[in-house]
Amino acid sequence: SSPEQPYRTAFHFQPPKNWMNDPNGPMYYNGVYHLFYQHNPFGPLFSNQMYWGHSVSHDLINWTPLELAISPTQPFDINSCWSGSATILPGNKPVILYTGIDSNNRQVQNLAVPKNSSDPYLREWVKSATNPVINLPNGIQHDDFRDPTTAWLGDDGKWRILVGSQKDKTGIAFLYQSTDFENWSTHESPLHEVAGTGIWECPDFFPVLVDSTNGADTSVLNINSRVKHVLKVGLFDYARDYYLIGDYSSVNEQYVPQNELTLGTLRYDYGKYYASKSFFDPVKNRRILMAWVNESDSEADDIAKGWSGLHSFPRSIWLDQNQKQLVQWPIEEIEMLHENEVGFQNTNLEDASLLEIEGITAWQADVMISFKLTNIQEAEKLDPSGVDPQLLCSEMNALKRGKFGPFGLLALATYELSEQTAIFFRVFQNKGQYIVLMCSDQSRSSTRVGLDKTTYGAFVDIDPQQEEISLRTLIDQSIVESFGGGGKTCITSRVYPAFAIGEQAKLFLFNYGRESVMISDLKAWSVKKARINIEETVMCTD
Ligand code: FRU
Repeated sequence: SSPEQPYRTAFHFQPPKNWMNDPNGPMYYNGVYHLFYQHNPFGPLFSNQMYWGHSVSHDLINWTPLELAISPTQPFDINSCWSGSATILPGNKPVILYTGIDSNNRQVQNLAVPKNSSDPYLREWVKSATNPVINLPNGIQHDDFRDPTTAWLGDDGKWRILVGSQKDKTGIAFLYQSTDFENWSTHESPLHEVAGTGIWECPDFFPVLVDSTNGADTSVLNINSRVKHVLKVGLFDYARDYYLIGDYSSVNEQYVPQNELTLGTLRYDYGKYYASKSFFDPVKNRRILMAWVNESDSEADDIAKGWSGLHSFPRSIWLDQNQKQLVQWPIEEIEMLHENEVGFQNTNLEDASLLEIEGITAWQADVMISFKLTNIQEAEKLDPSGVDPQLLCSEMNALKRGKFGPFGLLALATYELSEQTAIFFRVFQNKGQYIVLMCSDQSRSSTRVGLDKTTYGAFVDIDPQQEEISLRTLIDQSIVESFGGGGKTCITSRVYPAFAIGEQAKLFLFNYGRESVMISDLKAWSVKKARINIEETVMCTD
């Protein structure tokens, strides 16, 4: 960041300037990672003329900006080019499906293909003459039909995609089939729908392996019960990404989720994290997840900054061993940016104590901590049934003493703590079971007014008798991404300190519980600045 731009990030993706929302069409093609994004190239606010921005990378860390990839120019997309996904067809042919807002303000689905597939950067995209390839279904409102997924192949050799929608407040993932990507037929029943959830945006549907942290290509089906399928949907009414884990068969087009979609069910992230999209990375055999992390300052602030919107740091995503939830972890490439490693082991954090983590750039950092508790049978009682963990975190904020907790990190803090973003745990017990609560408390993150400082929270499904409680936090000027329990519970927040900026930003461990906690291991790094969308000429590889 610079003195004029204290909130611009060093290793989180953002365009050179102006508005960005959803990640679109992430893919790996011929040695290059592509990331497109919802973009208003003319200003820092969302607009009624949306474009696809485009950047390329060789390492998912440094990104080079390219020309706009898809612009509103035709009757089938003249009023905006909204979100969509890429699919690599057999023969190594990338294609994009995206939502167009047509001249009648109807949402329709369109196809685009590279103009020249031997251009290593796929700069130019040609829209199909047959667009729109999917029209608004009967009985669906003109603005309730969008965000096609990456396609997958069924047993019958036909492609399938989902499109997000709603009817009378029932969220719907419509299913379409095609052999050529131009002619699509509606499957008689949607893949899934849930009453009362409102429109589903940016659906994602992909296989996860039951016995591995590796990813699987999107067309991998359930062979010998080695695969489960994840359906992720964005609930527009709440700006949250929820997911289901279940069994899918392309033979009868049945998806049977094992959990129900309710407001209290599984989310990728319990903070600010929306419109995510995943893709399979064949280089490292993993599935990578990216998401839009929007601003929590005002539109006037965004106009002053000249930009709005970040993407989360890319995460690997896989199925937990218990098969009940997903696990996420920052991609290992972050190590390219690590420097100044500091660390220590087996250090006791007494009750009501503070310990500064020194020797790293606290405003641009990666921190990993393992907390060990003794006498945990002394934990306070809490019956978690019917408890909203986010509410509990705002009631029992970082200043409320408990027995075990709050303990954790004070990030982007001023030295005298007038500003601090507190990421912490509390441990409770209920009928012989232990309950771990993880919170991200932004209420004192800035002395500035007019910011959304909502506190976030969620439970972490670990047994602190069997394992230590781990926390990893990525700090980058105005974004704090935290991973609890090895990535079982993630919370992302946006903060805009007035004083805890650059060298003035400090990082502390804290324990405000009445019991001491042991830091069995701590490692922390400065994170160097990546080259993200700095205007430059793309060098040709050939
Ligand atoms: C999600 C979303 C999508 C839409 C796009 C428009 O944030 O509303 O449903 O395609 O953004 O920019």
